[in-house]
Amino acid sequence: MLDLPYTFELNAPGFVPTRYDNHIKRTLTSMKGQYHDISAYEAMLAEGDALLYEVYELARPHESGEVLHGISIVHPGKVGDEYYMTKGHFHTVLETAEIYVCLAGQGVMVMETPEGDWAVEALTPGRVLYVPPRWAHRSVNTGAADLITFFAYPGHAGHDYGTIEQQGFRKLMVERDGLPEIVDNPRWGKGG
Ligand code: 6PG
Ligand code: NI
Repeated sequence: MLDLPYTFELNAPGFVPTRYDNHIKRTLTSMKGQYHDISAYEAMLAEGDALLYEVYELARPHESGEVLHGISIVHPGKVGDEYYMTKGHFHTVLETAEIYVCLAGQGVMVMETPEGDWAVEALTPGRVLYVPPRWAHRSVNTGAADLITFFAYPGHAGHDYGTIEQQGFRKLMVERDGLPEIVDNPRWGKGG
């Protein structure tokens, strides 16, 4: 079958692609063990399984040479004092990078390597982030509106969620006196 070039639109304000193949919805239950304030998490879950973020993917073969791409929308909110965030992951093929373009909202990308290096980069409209190979990455919405990014990464990268589910990220984003603050994850390495 001829693999034809294709186009789609990303139109403000929502930037939902005018064509997509997968629409993933991540709710509070899918983030069990990731938020540091367990009682705040449990109390929130008792109120309902809130929708935290969504991903719209354009399906391509998971092969090197292909570039997987789509839109990630992290909704605004907090669990306790910790902002809504994505699960975060290493790529199964560690030596694979990723590019993010921020289209809307305010947030940060929390990143770390297996060796313990960490970085937090701000995401604001028009900003492009290059996530080098070996860096796990998690989008965090520190604003009052949706944090929307376009992402692209190698087709054969894969997702390793297990390592993050097990040990968490070294750094967390919490709100202190109304402002985002980077803090050490008190439960890093202790099972998320
Ligand atoms: C990827 C991208 C990106 C990511 C979403 C949702 O490798 O696919 O990093 O699309 O999947 O931002 O984040 P999680 O995959 O961590 O849930
Ligand atoms: Ni990724």
